[in-house]
Amino acid sequence: MDNIVLIGFMGTGKSTVGQHLSERLELEFVDSDEVIEERAGREISSIFAEYGEEYFRDLETEVITDLSRQQRLVISTGGGVVLRQENIEQLRKKGTIILLTAEPEVILDRVKDSDRPLLEVPEPLEKIKEMLADRREYYDITEYKIDTSQMSVAEVVAEIEKIISNEGG
Ligand code: S3P
Repeated sequence: MDNIVLIGFMGTGKSTVGQHLSERLELEFVDSDEVIEERAGREISSIFAEYGEEYFRDLETEVITDLSRQQRLVISTGGGVVLRQENIEQLRKKGTIILLTAEPEVILDRVKDSDRPLLEVPEPLEKIKEMLADRREYYDITEYKIDTSQMSVAEVVAEIEKIISNEGG
C-alpha cells in the first residue's frame, strides 16, 4: 500500500488526524516535523532561531526524501512542505496526497498555545490570512481536499478512508 500524505497549513489537523488514521488502518505514523527535530537534536523553534528558515527547509527536504522511499506510512507534513516542488514530487511517487484546510479563525484557535515560530507576530490572524493567500496555489496540488473547520477527528478520518478505498488502496 502507498503512503497517505497529509498536507496543509498549520492547525488544519494533520498530526491529530494522521495519528488516528494510522491506528485505524494499522499503518505506521510519521510526523515529518518530529523526524526533523530528532535529527537536528533540537526543537523547530530553536532550528529557526539558530539557523534560519532556509536551513530548516533543507532538513525538511532531506526528511521528505527519506520518508518517500518507504511504504505503508501515514505521513503528516509541516505546513510549508509545499513550498518546494521537489518535496511534492517525492511524496507523490509513493503516496496519495490529501490536503486538509481550515478557516483562519479556526487555525488561530488551534495553534494559539503552541510553538509556531512563523506565527509569533503581533497580529497572528492577519499573518495566517496573508500566508494562506500566498500559499494558495502551492496547496492546490491534489484533488483530495477536506475542510476540517467544523469536523471531528473521527469524521475527517472516515472521509480519508473513503478516499483511500475509492483509490483501490
Ligand atoms: C511551518 C509549519 C510547521 C513547521 C514549521 C514551518 C510552515 O508545521 O514545519 O514551523 O511553514 O507552515 P505544522 O504545519 O505541523 O505546524
